[in-house]
Amino acid sequence: MQMRGAVYVNGTISPADHAVVPVYDHGFVYGEGVYETLRTYNRVPFLYDRHVKRLRSSARHLSLPVPFDDGTLLGWIQQTMEAAGVQAAPPSNNEAYVRVLLTRGVGELTYDPKATPVPSLVIIAKPHEEPPARVFEDGIKISLVRVLRNHPGSVNPIIKSNNLLNNALAMQEAYRRGGEEALMCNYCGELSECAQSNLFIVRRGVAVTPKSKSGLLEGVTRAFIFEVGKDVGVDVRDEILYPKDLETADEVFITSTTRELSPVVRIDDHVIGSGRPGPVTKKLLEGYRRRAQEITASQSLAR
Ligand SMILES: Cc1ncc(COP(=O)(O)O)c(C=O)c1O
Repeated sequence: MQMRGAVYVNGTISPADHAVVPVYDHGFVYGEGVYETLRTYNRVPFLYDRHVKRLRSSARHLSLPVPFDDGTLLGWIQQTMEAAGVQAAPPSNNEAYVRVLLTRGVGELTYDPKATPVPSLVIIAKPHEEPPARVFEDGIKISLVRVLRNHPGSVNPIIKSNNLLNNALAMQEAYRRGGEEALMCNYCGELSECAQSNLFIVRRGVAVTPKSKSGLLEGVTRAFIFEVGKDVGVDVRDEILYPKDLETADEVFITSTTRELSPVVRIDDHVIGSGRPGPVTKKLLEGYRRRAQEITASQSLAR
């Protein structure tokens, strides 16, 4: 299969098809590593500072050193985007998907971090593929799966970890049930988040998302929605939520860097509200896109 884009591996940028990491990298053998997914608007990585902050926080949970500063990493990201051909100037409409992975590095097969003093850095850049228009126009179906989100005392979901087995198992169950995303509960039966996105429900005009203490990845998009809500006059809150709250929700949507706000119109056999994307979701999505354009356009001019 031909991969698109370019990949930076420890200082060398290659076409995606040729990029390799050593088998003894502990990211491969143990899943020991952290990552971030970014996308560009106006060819500028959106909310870059927040993504790098979370990368550093994830790495801290693993006692994994991050041996570069934010500006240096941004330079490597830009070089990789250029190599991937996704940095063409306007009127080109190319936007980039960027994934930054930092792993424990190469060393003998032991869990002792002393064996791997130098972390590996990988940057994948390729054209960003917008979700199909039907996602925003008609909404999607998701599944509430039996797989539980990791217990925070185990692999804490707050870590954006390369070890994605919990997410993969949840998605397998969702796919089997015809869902495009897997919604998970935590070990207490509270709603936590989806395998690749955060959850919001809308009740009487208020957008509500599960509290961080329900055990979830604190999405950059999720946090941004609180700011967008102020812009567009929608009250946004976090609360402990349960599966029964889905039954009475007027609207449901999920958030992530690549999916922005995607309306959810069905959860398994349950139809949400009118079965169409609702007005609060649409208002927040418009506000989100407007702010994303404004922020990145001003950064692009400042470059
Ligand atoms: C488990 C999980 N939750 C939430 C998110 C959304 O995070 P963000 O908005 O930072 O993309 C993601 C994104 O990949 C994710 O994997």
